[in-house]
Amino acid sequence: MNFSSDTAAPAHPALLAALNEANAGPAPSYGADRWVEAARRGLEDMFETELDVWLVSSGTAANALALGAMCPPTMSILCHAEAHIERDERGAPEFFTGGAKLSLLPGDHAKIDVAALKARLAANNPDFVHETPLRVMSLSNLTENGAAYSAAEISERSAMAKAAGLLVHLDGARFANAVASSGASPAEMSWRAGVDVMSFGATKNGALGCEAILLFGEARSLAEELRARAKRAGHMPPKMRFLGAQMAAYLEGGLWLDLAGRANAAAKRLSELFTSRAGGRIVHPVDGNEVFVELPDAVVAKLKAAGASFYPWLGGSFRFVCSWATGADEIDAVGRVLG
Ligand SMILES: Cc1ncc(COP(=O)(O)O)c(C=O)c1O
Repeated sequence: MNFSSDTAAPAHPALLAALNEANAGPAPSYGADRWVEAARRGLEDMFETELDVWLVSSGTAANALALGAMCPPTMSILCHAEAHIERDERGAPEFFTGGAKLSLLPGDHAKIDVAALKARLAANNPDFVHETPLRVMSLSNLTENGAAYSAAEISERSAMAKAAGLLVHLDGARFANAVASSGASPAEMSWRAGVDVMSFGATKNGALGCEAILLFGEARSLAEELRARAKRAGHMPPKMRFLGAQMAAYLEGGLWLDLAGRANAAAKRLSELFTSRAGGRIVHPVDGNEVFVELPDAVVAKLKAAGASFYPWLGGSFRFVCSWATGADEIDAVGRVLG
């Protein structure tokens, strides 16, 4: 009953097998190998477009490097007040941009509120030297509260940001979970909805440690800058083939979507148990693999006594995270504890 995080889950055996296969002999260094190329082709198939890709080993690196390439030090990045880039990255976006500001917006379930976005964009004055004008809007999908933006919701916010001259970044640490629950395609949930650059996560959904920075459309002109920044920041591993092998195996046969679907289904079952048997109140939509729930103290105590792991969250709720590896037996065990 480990619901502490999807990063607590093991890596999927298909990715381990791919690492073994990539380990069979020598290969070119620094991304000039066939596994990185296979990953790039797999991503182009998945997103139905040409793109540039840079592979890194953590979501923080993906977000901070991407934002560094997108935003000059003298400008700002709009994001939700609960965004991972604001609350959980120890200032990495500010550090990697060389001092750009994060400008925070409200919104339910960690989705940027459209009216607040409109007001903030209207107040933006790039010609007033004393301000720190806006350059990027960053959305997270899933959001940090486990909710999913639909393709239409991304498009609406992107169109507004773009009309004001901003670029759009998507933190897709749990993009697979968002796509799995949306029924939309990866393209519809990203570049067709106005996303220029995204961090596409795999670590939380079966990889050992692999995230892809994707550059779409005109943002592909940032590729050289991104590469240079990755090198300077120590994110150009010589044996990049092992990142490539993970990503290629993750995409092969739609494994990413299958794994995300499993995690999402487990979260749905868990949330139903909490509401039907434990007097739980779900506080954010369960659109993916995370459940945020208020529970009676006695239920929390029973779950803890039975060895379940989960974290207390903001505002008095608890966060339960399912992963591709969450077994039906684990959910059944919760059911038995709840009685
Ligand atoms: C929304 C979001 N973005 C990015 C990340 C990636 O962070 P890390 O640097 O731990 O891989 C996380 C991890 O919890 C996350 O929840």
